[in-house]
Amino acid sequence: MTMPTDRGREPAIRVQNIEKSYRDLHVLKGVDFEVASGSIFALLGSNGAGKTTAIKILSTLLKADAGTASVNGYDVATQAADVRESISLTGQFAAVDEVLTGRENLILVAKLRHLTNPGKIADDLLARFSLTDAGGRKAATYSGGMRRRLDIAMSLIGNPPVIFLDEPTTGLDPEARIEVWDEVKKLAQGGTTVLLTTQYLDEAEQLADRIAILHQGRIIVNGTLAELKALLPPAKVEYVEKQPSLEDVFFAVVGNNGDAGKNGDAGTSGNEPSNKTSNPAGTDA
Ligand SMILES: Nc1ncnc2c1ncn2[C@@H]1O[C@H](COP(=O)(O)OP(=O)(O)O)[C@@H](O)[C@H]1O
Ligand SMILES: [Mg+2]
Repeated sequence: MTMPTDRGREPAIRVQNIEKSYRDLHVLKGVDFEVASGSIFALLGSNGAGKTTAIKILSTLLKADAGTASVNGYDVATQAADVRESISLTGQFAAVDEVLTGRENLILVAKLRHLTNPGKIADDLLARFSLTDAGGRKAATYSGGMRRRLDIAMSLIGNPPVIFLDEPTTGLDPEARIEVWDEVKKLAQGGTTVLLTTQYLDEAEQLADRIAILHQGRIIVNGTLAELKALLPPAKVEYVEKQPSLEDVFFAVVGNNGDAGKNGDAGTSGNEPSNKTSNPAGTDA
């Protein structure tokens, strides 16, 4: 509803052949993807894959060596100020000021953005993120999930149409992750475009309309969850090399019929202290 109508049809984010190196380290080797307006897109990749690098380029914090990218219709290289007006970035590490209360954190950002009525903006966001009761407490007292919710709330001030969430749930416990997921889903339902990065398959599975896997500098897969699942072979048998246990060695040496002693113990196995050979396996399981 509040989306700029002239830009509604083109993708909210378009990335074409982006490359980036840090000295000799060629991190992005030609990355391409598009994010539809109002959708949630997950950039999935292991630690060091280049997810943060890609986010930094899209949020104009870093210049690409090659390729082009646009956000909300604006080129990240030549229209950086317009891009910054269109986005918010929630970094991998929470940007919340712990000395301030939750409400004060929100008011601070609203003032930095020169918005009128920062108090009302703060109260509305506290309510939206179920932080009204905690709003008067120092953020230092917040749980990980509350802190991350406050961080996301802060990033929404000014209603940017595109938000970047860099590993929004890394380090959170399972309950807090679900709280954050709920808020991210609500954002997209409200029409915001969300690009998130994650190392977690289940997070991408829970949240994303589309998932792209960044691996060795390139997007190796890009599709919906159903499309990605269809790529997997139906079943896989793996050969795992296993060190022989003492039990394996024992049976190899004495043969499989050499367990006469164990059979003899069987009737009294519960209380017999001499029942050594069979106990370790039981307690390990
Ligand atoms: N400023 C930098 N200088 C040199 N190397 C960097 C810099 N930032 C990131 N890297 C390296 O680039 C690679 C990708 O980093 P990053 O984009 O942070 O990956 P991810 O966010 O997927 O974990 C890593 O090997 C990282 O060590
Ligand atoms: Mg990162």
